[in-house]
Amino acid sequence: MTMLSENPAATLHGADPDRRDLLVRSTTWEADDVMSLRLVDPDGGELPAWEPGAHIDLVLPSGLVRQYSLCGRPADRGCYTVAVLREAAGRGGSQELHETVLPGKTISVRGPRNRFPLVEAARYLFVAGGIGITPILAMVRDVSARGAEWRLVYGGRSRSSMAFVEELVELGEDRVEIVPQDELGIPDLDAALAQSGPGTAVYCCGPEGLLAAVERRCAEGPMSLHTERFGSTGAARAAEPVVVSQVTTFEVELRRSGCVVTVPSDRTILDAVRDVVPEAMSSCEEGYCGTCETRVIEGVPEHHDTILSDKERQAGKTMMICVGRSRTPRLVLDI
Ligand code: FES
Repeated sequence: MTMLSENPAATLHGADPDRRDLLVRSTTWEADDVMSLRLVDPDGGELPAWEPGAHIDLVLPSGLVRQYSLCGRPADRGCYTVAVLREAAGRGGSQELHETVLPGKTISVRGPRNRFPLVEAARYLFVAGGIGITPILAMVRDVSARGAEWRLVYGGRSRSSMAFVEELVELGEDRVEIVPQDELGIPDLDAALAQSGPGTAVYCCGPEGLLAAVERRCAEGPMSLHTERFGSTGAARAAEPVVVSQVTTFEVELRRSGCVVTVPSDRTILDAVRDVVPEAMSSCEEGYCGTCETRVIEGVPEHHDTILSDKERQAGKTMMICVGRSRTPRLVLDI
């Protein structure tokens, strides 16, 4: 590692304009094992704007970082709302949130960022499974308020496990199909898609089985499909294998911290960065959550994530440093 200047790395997150501590104002039990949290600025300030589909990173007291879709109202600039499903078989983040992030506590938040934006379309079909309803709820409110044509198919294990049913039905009783599996089986995707003509934007969020089923059906259809996977299921992990890059060992200059680190073939950029910036944020470390997304100042990154679009990859302005590598002998990153 080479020091370029004496900037202390420890100050970096203090200068991170994307990260702030928010107060948990209240929690609400939305369904079996689903708790929503309302997060506000402790000083009552406005929070950064967001649009339906956006998520925030919650940095838990243990240091775990988890992403949650914003499911409140974008017009309410004083509050972020997220809903968290307690997953007993998960990796611990949701349990910790349910048990320790209580009203009156503060929690570090990064974002919002939007990897699931709502596009303009002639009509919309939303397909949600379980807690995948959270980004879809904000979208349904938006298209409903705009008077757009839309339908929602919402499946879940049982009625009591399905959050926000009442509000969704109020938004469009004849447009919403609630499908609790213990009563009605699984959603009839063929029928839902058959009712949606060309020009329909299909938005799907839920477990991997549901996403794969929708993807199969939309593969050759005239509709545009937009999906978001749950990080905690691991569903979107490593769709693209990590291959040996053209430059196996390369240097990374951390412009803000004033250091240069060497990244050999058996280490990730994130590993090397942590030699200098131990608090560098990550969550999945497999290229599907976006927590480690970093701005590229110079050099050509080699992407191995499953987040960036082809256009974003070509632009080369950001990269996921947990899996990405370099096509040039040196990368300069905004860290
Ligand atoms: Fe999840 Fe890098 S930590 S994409």
